Amino acid sequence: MLPEVTATRYVTPLREGGSLPGIVEADDLGTYVMKFTGAGQGRKTLVAEVVCGQLARGLGLRVPELAVIELDPVIGRGEPDPEVQALLKASGGLNLAMDFLPGALGFDPLAFETDPAEAGRVVWFDALVGNVDRSWRNPNLLVWHGQLWLIDHGATMIWHHNWPTAAAAAGRAYDASDHVLASFAPDIAAAAAELAPRVTEELLTAVVSDVPDEWLEGEPGFDGPDAVRRAYVDVLLERAAGIGGRITLGERSAEKPSQAPEWVRVRLDGRAGKK
Ligand SMILES: Nc1ncnc2c1ncn2[C@@H]1O[C@H](COP(=O)(O)OP(=O)(O)O)[C@@H](O)[C@H]1O
Ligand SMILES: [Mg+2]
Repeated sequence: MLPEVTATRYVTPLREGGSLPGIVEADDLGTYVMKFTGAGQGRKTLVAEVVCGQLARGLGLRVPELAVIELDPVIGRGEPDPEVQALLKASGGLNLAMDFLPGALGFDPLAFETDPAEAGRVVWFDALVGNVDRSWRNPNLLVWHGQLWLIDHGATMIWHHNWPTAAAAAGRAYDASDHVLASFAPDIAAAAAELAPRVTEELLTAVVSDVPDEWLEGEPGFDGPDAVRRAYVDVLLERAAGIGGRITLGERSAEKPSQAPEWVRVRLDGRAGKK
């Protein structure tokens, strides 16, 4: 079970990504990033956040703590932006909260380093869950107290948007050439050897039990929330066994323009030369 808190104040929207999460305060005096059931692809995104976030944590990767958060849309009454108003109105009830990491910086591959072991673990994990949102342009990695933290797992497990495709998805390859950590020589073989045996039925069952029933109810073709949970376990268990050998790691294409200023690019060139 994830902790349950109640939102007490809507502080501000976060506009970087696109799903318009909000910073909120809650009755446990915590500050959270809140992801709304009423946003874009709705509750599936939140299910993905829970499944991937808890799985990553279970494998020893750093992910901010998750909680389920009760929202009474009335707390946003003073919010002037009609887009935010609409989102809050559509999201009464249970939503997802992620512990807000104050002062965290977005990971910039030109300004931060990571070692091949850690890069390998992150790439392998993203391959396992089919994460398409850890790219050069949109890393969804934070640096906090000098360490890498994983956020934003909404765009993963594409198969859960169309369950009849899930069996085929279990064996699908992962193209990591656009991955933000692709240039850090990720040691995927080492990561697979370390992590694949840890993706057990027991771990996955614990992970999916953290998803609230009401985000799993009414899924076509399933006889209730536990049957849907089982389906997540089955795909991920099968994927874990073979995905390490199906990750492509091409060179990041040279024509992709750097958005960094000249002095940072000089640094990058120096690093590339060292390898
Ligand atoms: N736990 C967190 N702590 C601090 N900042 C965060 C946290 N989660 C998200 N952010 C910031 O908010 C932005 C948007 O959040 P994200 O989860 O990526 O949502 P989306 O991309 O779906 O809009 C992130 O790029 C990051 O800058
Ligand atoms: Mg994002």
